[in-house]
Amino acid sequence: MALSRVSQRCLKLFPTGCKALSCYYSQETPQHTPYWHEIFRDKRIRNFDEMPTVGPLTEEYKSFKIHEAYQRWVNEVGHVVKEIFPDGGYCVHVYHKDDFVTIYRNDGKYPLRKSHEVIAKYRRDRPHLYNSVGLGPGMGAEWYHLRRMLPSAVGGNVYLPFRSELEEVVDDFIDLAQSKLDENGEVELLPLLFRWAFESIGVIALNRRLNALSKVWNEEAENLIDAAHLTNEVIFLSNVGDFEKQYERLIPAQDYFASVIMAYVAEAALEPEGKCLVNKLIEGGNDYKDITTLILDLFQGAISTVPLTLTWALYQLTGCPDIQERAREQLMEILPSRDTRYYDLSQTRAELLFLSSKASPCVQAILRETLRLNPPAIGNGRINSVDLVLGGYLVPAGTMIVLQSQAACRLDEYFERPLEFIPDRFINSEKYHKKGGVNRPFGFGPRSCIGQPFAHGQLILALSKILRNFEVSYDREEVGVINRLHNEPDRPVIFKLKPLTE
Ligand code: HEM
Repeated sequence: MALSRVSQRCLKLFPTGCKALSCYYSQETPQHTPYWHEIFRDKRIRNFDEMPTVGPLTEEYKSFKIHEAYQRWVNEVGHVVKEIFPDGGYCVHVYHKDDFVTIYRNDGKYPLRKSHEVIAKYRRDRPHLYNSVGLGPGMGAEWYHLRRMLPSAVGGNVYLPFRSELEEVVDDFIDLAQSKLDENGEVELLPLLFRWAFESIGVIALNRRLNALSKVWNEEAENLIDAAHLTNEVIFLSNVGDFEKQYERLIPAQDYFASVIMAYVAEAALEPEGKCLVNKLIEGGNDYKDITTLILDLFQGAISTVPLTLTWALYQLTGCPDIQERAREQLMEILPSRDTRYYDLSQTRAELLFLSSKASPCVQAILRETLRLNPPAIGNGRINSVDLVLGGYLVPAGTMIVLQSQAACRLDEYFERPLEFIPDRFINSEKYHKKGGVNRPFGFGPRSCIGQPFAHGQLILALSKILRNFEVSYDREEVGVINRLHNEPDRPVIFKLKPLTE
């Protein structure tokens, strides 16, 4: 009985929230014969220093092309690879679904991740402003203390009360995009999507419009978005060397970003009856410094990820107009006219775009396929707190491990025709072979993305509205990927948008 409830939840095309995902692994039948017995016929567990090594790399990091090396390694070296860093440190990369399961199952209550250390230093150096280093770099009980302030993550209880306002924000984005079309009907959407994402997190966190989508230049919003981008780049570069230099770059960006957002938080806190995140966190009796830290982390997490996912989704769709058209046909039923607004209608319809069970199946499948093939994050970092056997090698506790989700999703052992963009694989699963376990764009378990439910709602809402308003095409040179913490286009992606008349 319990199991069938679980299966029903997992059948949802675009599952919302960690709970549904957590079911996923509990259903996974443990492999009794380790996969690596096929590779090491003697079944002997190898020592850590027997693991194949690669590196140190410098060029790939400098040119922001590290994802290409990650993809090569699994094909050329195998499912478990040790990368040696220029400073002599190392990290283990894993690509097999069974190793993912082993790592996540041994995550424990406080999953450990070594990242964002430059942010940790910035915050440790400023104890008058921060009690802790925050969610990204946080470890152990200190991380858990912040994380449990939002036990349901940025879930429906946080963002659904603002669905009307969020819909206004996306409608403003559509108007802005249309107003920016040049004489060829072209526009670069990504900078506008950054502004939309910034405005949206402002609504749910602070209950205020930050005017990032205004048609006149908003310097403060632009500067904040730039500071968030620079912070991401510094986090990436400081991971691979040059820590002190990157820290110096971070200081002015974070001084600005944190002081402005903190002032916004202070203003929101003056509204005791408010329903936004700041008000909820105050109502929950949380420490004020912890609240500002959490809000800063949410702004930082929200500004790039969803816009990049939407850009990759639209880019992929321009290569398959039939799928774009199918999505639009479904959207015509949900949104009969271009300016249909759900919140003005009945309660059930009000949530159509936000709830995965009611949104267009084609839009959801497009988003799932985008997150498989072009996720914003390459993979997922962990430090194992106990010794683990991965791919037949003993990996001692305390090792930095990267679960290479994106590269694994591009292997034909998990997905049929893995390099092709086929949203149908998430609708018609009998037709396409796929194996679960490595497709983890939001991570997994207690430390998975805290913004996941909000990101789902926002992705569905924005893609639905964009496709309902415009036919999207692209006829410029092919776009490649660079990775500076996130997978970004290597050039401006200038879309052609044909506004629909009805
Ligand atoms: C398409 C959108 C997004 C993707 C693919 C994504 C992906 C991820 C991934 C892979 C992680 C690491 C998870 C792990 O270690 O298991 C993460 C963590 C995080 N994400 Fe997201 N994210 C997205 C959107 C957002 C949004 C909208 C927010 C804020 C509202 C956000 C805030 C965060 C934060 C604060 C963390 C650190 C959580 C912790 O360590 O406890 N993310 N995200």
